[in-house]
Amino acid sequence: MTVSATLTKAIKRLSARGVEEPELNAQWLLASAMGVERLRLLAEPDLPVPAAALKKFEAYLKLKEQGLPLAYILGWQDFRDIRIKVDKRVLVPRPETEELAGLAADFLKTRKGELSALDYGAGSGAIGLWLAKKFPALKLTAAELSAKAIACAKENAAELGLAARVKFVRTGVLGPVRGPFDLIVSNPPYIPTRVIPGLSPEVLSEPHVALDGGGDGLDVARMLVDVAPRKLKKGGALILELGGAQAVKMLAAMAPSIWGEKKTFKDLNGIERFVYGRING
Ligand SMILES: C[S@@+](CC[C@H](N)C(=O)[O-])C[C@H]1O[C@@H](n2cnc3c(N)ncnc32)[C@H](O)[C@@H]1O
Repeated sequence: MTVSATLTKAIKRLSARGVEEPELNAQWLLASAMGVERLRLLAEPDLPVPAAALKKFEAYLKLKEQGLPLAYILGWQDFRDIRIKVDKRVLVPRPETEELAGLAADFLKTRKGELSALDYGAGSGAIGLWLAKKFPALKLTAAELSAKAIACAKENAAELGLAARVKFVRTGVLGPVRGPFDLIVSNPPYIPTRVIPGLSPEVLSEPHVALDGGGDGLDVARMLVDVAPRKLKKGGALILELGGAQAVKMLAAMAPSIWGEKKTFKDLNGIERFVYGRING
């Protein structure tokens, strides 16, 4: 069977099961099964699909039909210009979080001297490892509650040649993490508990601890806003990713006497998603 015929059949099948973006899913999965670049499939629709690749593709399609995120099936997710290994131990990094990392980089560029940053709730390590790659002098601490996620983040640090510059801390609170940092960046769990049962099967296959932010979704974010001023260098900043309406709420809870500069940023969809606070100094 050709690439084109295989894709047409698979797209129909995924659409019938209500899978979002069936074309992209089918293309990525077939490319992975054949061990070729996705764009090659588009450029060479008449390429024959070897029997072994077809068998692999069939297994991938079954997993996709069962609601597994594409990144778990592929085993990786691109994050800005690095490739991160992901599996069911960690949340799949989202496009908004690439924007968060960009804001963090913009802030780090304004700092002088030895640079240090904390990625709190590091998961796969995407944010912090991307920053460490971008800033060769950066000392990174990655804090995380889940031991399984820390194991994954360590694998990513090793894969990216960054292990020597990253300190991993297993914790559920910021208090024991040793600073001070120029920057604390976090994409904490921020989904309100009551919303979780209604999420899509794909999201529900990700770790619960990565999603559930408590009653109003702000448990971890609030703790960070409370403790971060004691962990930041003078003029250091906290940058958080949150959900719709939460960023504005969190901003209002940040005392101007502590946070000399504070603002929210919109994501590319126009949602106020990021909170930035810089302490005086
Ligand atoms: C939304 S995920 C973000 C993962 C990764 N930073 C990213 O952006 O893709 C939140 C992460 O915080 C971790 N986490 C949840 N509660 C925590 C807590 N109280 N302290 C530290 N980490 C926590 C979860 O295990 C998960 O890895």
